[in-house]
Amino acid sequence: MWAAQASFGDNEAMPTAVSAIALRTSPLTELEVDLLVVPWFSNDPPTTFSHLNEATGLELARARTSGELSGRLYELLVTPLVDTRWKAARVLLIGAGPREEFGTDLARRVAAAAAYAARSRRAQSLAFVLRSGLPDASGDVDVSAFVQAIAEGLTLAEFHGGTYKTVEPGPSITPRVTIAVRDVEDGSPETPRRLESALSRGRLLGECSNQARQLANEPGNHLTPRAFADKASQIVADGGASVDVLDETRIAELKMGLLMGVARGSSEPPRLMVFKHLPHGVTSGPVLGLVGKGITFDTGGISIKPAENMDKMKDDMAGGAAVAAAMRALSILGAPIRVIGIVPTCENMPGGKAVKPGDILTSAEGKTVEVMNTDAEGRLVLGDGLWYARKLGATHLVDVATLTGAISVALGKQITGLFGTPPWWVDQVRRVADRAGDRIWPMPLATDYFDQLKSEIADFTNTGGRPAGSITAALFLKEFTGGLPWAHLDIAGTAWADDARPYQPKGPSGVAVRTLAELPFTIDNWK
Ligand code: BES
Ligand code: MN
Ligand code: ZN
Repeated sequence: MWAAQASFGDNEAMPTAVSAIALRTSPLTELEVDLLVVPWFSNDPPTTFSHLNEATGLELARARTSGELSGRLYELLVTPLVDTRWKAARVLLIGAGPREEFGTDLARRVAAAAAYAARSRRAQSLAFVLRSGLPDASGDVDVSAFVQAIAEGLTLAEFHGGTYKTVEPGPSITPRVTIAVRDVEDGSPETPRRLESALSRGRLLGECSNQARQLANEPGNHLTPRAFADKASQIVADGGASVDVLDETRIAELKMGLLMGVARGSSEPPRLMVFKHLPHGVTSGPVLGLVGKGITFDTGGISIKPAENMDKMKDDMAGGAAVAAAMRALSILGAPIRVIGIVPTCENMPGGKAVKPGDILTSAEGKTVEVMNTDAEGRLVLGDGLWYARKLGATHLVDVATLTGAISVALGKQITGLFGTPPWWVDQVRRVADRAGDRIWPMPLATDYFDQLKSEIADFTNTGGRPAGSITAALFLKEFTGGLPWAHLDIAGTAWADDARPYQPKGPSGVAVRTLAELPFTIDNWK
């Protein structure tokens, strides 16, 4: 018998109270908690958990017969454990769908949904039971992958967006959380040590996702570019990576005309965050460059946006927040390669000095851009950001940006658009995202569409019109990648949830944090 605690200590920058998650292999009867959480499969035979059924006074059997307990995804049934030999007070059965479809993605979501349900029931402790014999996507039984995903889900459920509520603060988190792993026998490859590290990894990735969500949730008046740079830097520095924040003077010295051009319409000065994870003794090999869009508020500038939904444009720095949170995670986890994070940040405002349609900006790289639409500002700041990542020695690039409304027309609010080149690099990023639980889908980088960005006066324009808006935006970015392997994640649809779901409230999703953090560990071929 053994138990592990995962905790990363007190941290000012933590968005939510940090509890520990423990791992237990004890019999279910021994778990002394308010809520014993048991995923229930729609094809579970009637004999499943017969001992638990008896402990509930046959309530499970009754609910099965009545149809109340069908195993439909996220369905909830709470009932007391009347048998005093069971130490848990109540059991929460949560629908988990058909057993064969229950992989790590659903495990993460079901765990989050259960933890939200526990919170709203004011539970002080819960134990999430990992059902035994679950295969992962490859068909292997990988208990540690499930433990990590469940720890992520339980942690993601600690996020609460009502930061500024003084009257009705949301229910506090469940302070004591356990993952109950059964059937881990001696001689199995799932050693306690492996499960412990999967637990802490999941816990950390969940916490860092929540930090990114917290930042994306902050309103533009609180999270100015300077405030964003301060908060993100603190998050990163606490994790051990180095931080340098370039102010407007240094940005001007570097001749970042695209970033300065966007920033010009605001009285708030721009910043450029530079994060470095340099593992001791690593002086050769790949240098991964992560670049995130950091527009703390996007009014559209002179090409101003309509009033409806403009408030959502406070999350236009979600890509930058993901880069910062991922830098923290990967440095705590000890990524084996060098990683650079670059976040250009500014406001896109229509002030008296703002960039105007038809204006020409010169990028730090020297390329000139005719600004046809000041609302296509993300690609501008990223252009200089990608260049700077290269200048600092990046050999492989991944950028993350709430870049185009068009990507949610194409892929909706649940799937991130993936662009880039060459295919061997993009494919690997896709596989990492799949494993990390960020839903993503490859989009074509049709280079002939670059014609849509043709300018009569400058090298190219910043907008290619409505058709294939996400592709032309990606092609604009490609101009600044210097031919390096590059992947671009358009998270304009996925960064913000418009509808609440059982596993996720309305608001910032924390998309891409886990993918970015896992990249330096999971990519096996850097070529
Ligand atoms: N930040 C927006 C993209 C966006 C839109 C994010 C909706 C989340 C929800 C971006 O800066 C933008 O305004 N893009 C324009 C580009 C257009 C002017 C070519 C767009 O998508 O309309
Ligand atoms: Mn815009
Ligand atoms: Zn924008």
